Amino acid sequence: MSFNHRRVVVERGRRSGLPIVVAVHSTVLGQAIGGCRMVSYPDWRDGLDDALRLSAAMTDKAALAGLPHGGGKTVIALPPDKALSPVERRDALHDAGDVINGLQGIYATGPDVGTGPADMVTIGARTPYVFCRPDASGDSSPHTAAGVLAALRAVAAERFGSPDLAGRSFAVLGLGRVGAHVLRLLAEAGAGNLLAADVNPARRAVADEHGATWTTPDDCLTAEVDVLVPAALGGVLTRDVVPQLACSAIAGPANNQLDHPQTADLLHERGILWAPDVVVSGGGIVHATAAELHHETEAQIAARIEGIGDTLAKVLRAARETSSTPAVAAARLAEFLAGERAASMLAAC
Ligand code: PHE
Repeated sequence: MSFNHRRVVVERGRRSGLPIVVAVHSTVLGQAIGGCRMVSYPDWRDGLDDALRLSAAMTDKAALAGLPHGGGKTVIALPPDKALSPVERRDALHDAGDVINGLQGIYATGPDVGTGPADMVTIGARTPYVFCRPDASGDSSPHTAAGVLAALRAVAAERFGSPDLAGRSFAVLGLGRVGAHVLRLLAEAGAGNLLAADVNPARRAVADEHGATWTTPDDCLTAEVDVLVPAALGGVLTRDVVPQLACSAIAGPANNQLDHPQTADLLHERGILWAPDVVVSGGGIVHATAAELHHETEAQIAARIEGIGDTLAKVLRAARETSSTPAVAAARLAEFLAGERAASMLAAC
């Protein structure tokens, strides 16, 4: 694998002793952005790997969302099955804040799996380079979910000939912050049959609240539905899983859903339409940057988030017309948009 990140910092947290990884993939279009993930890994090097892959995906995500930003990611790598006490958690977040601050603004963080807006206040005690504090733009997850709904309408239009989600069936895999909002919006859109699952049994209450049938994560993944919505951790779509899938299409906010780029080809061969997560999950960064950096109104931001549907429609159409996978079409569009923006930045100099 070639190394094409701008900068990667790995540091042992001064207070927590935990491995803190901050990967800055690109700052060609502007400051790198990407959330702070705090989860357990079998080995800290898996966390490093995750940060490298996730930060690269953030570069495409920002370009596809039309933002003047590059991609980055922070990973606080917890040992397997480690639950932090409140003090340990604060220490870990302060350590991450120090590392981010040391990068002097080439990267800014936000919430991600395992962290939320309140944690951004803790990080914010050590660095100004942080989005989504409750007194700033706050929780980005409802906005990410709104982008997912726009994407699902584009998928429905491409696959079933109508963007209407009423009466369609969905399996939502993961009822965390974003997944729970997606389930609510689907119920409000009149989705017919809703299935939902989460590794945490306590999340069943969310499924019940929205009239979804609770299943195991394995059954949810392979359910016979119109659209599978991966909304938890990445890597769920693997060479082994693809033959077991019984959905017509896949679109969800989980980052890095494919275990390997070639899995996109396997999905394509099976006739399953896969909407690239780098397009689907852009609503959070669109909202946070528009609200905090550009002071746009909520109506302007909502319109931009709706635009995720248009971008996805363009990707799916390009894939169909060039007989390529949506993954390839999205990568091409990201490159094109980034090139266009870089050229206009040069012209403005
Ligand atoms: N978790 C968000 C994402 O992956 C990260 C983020 C949200 C970063 C908001 C900055 C602001 O898109």
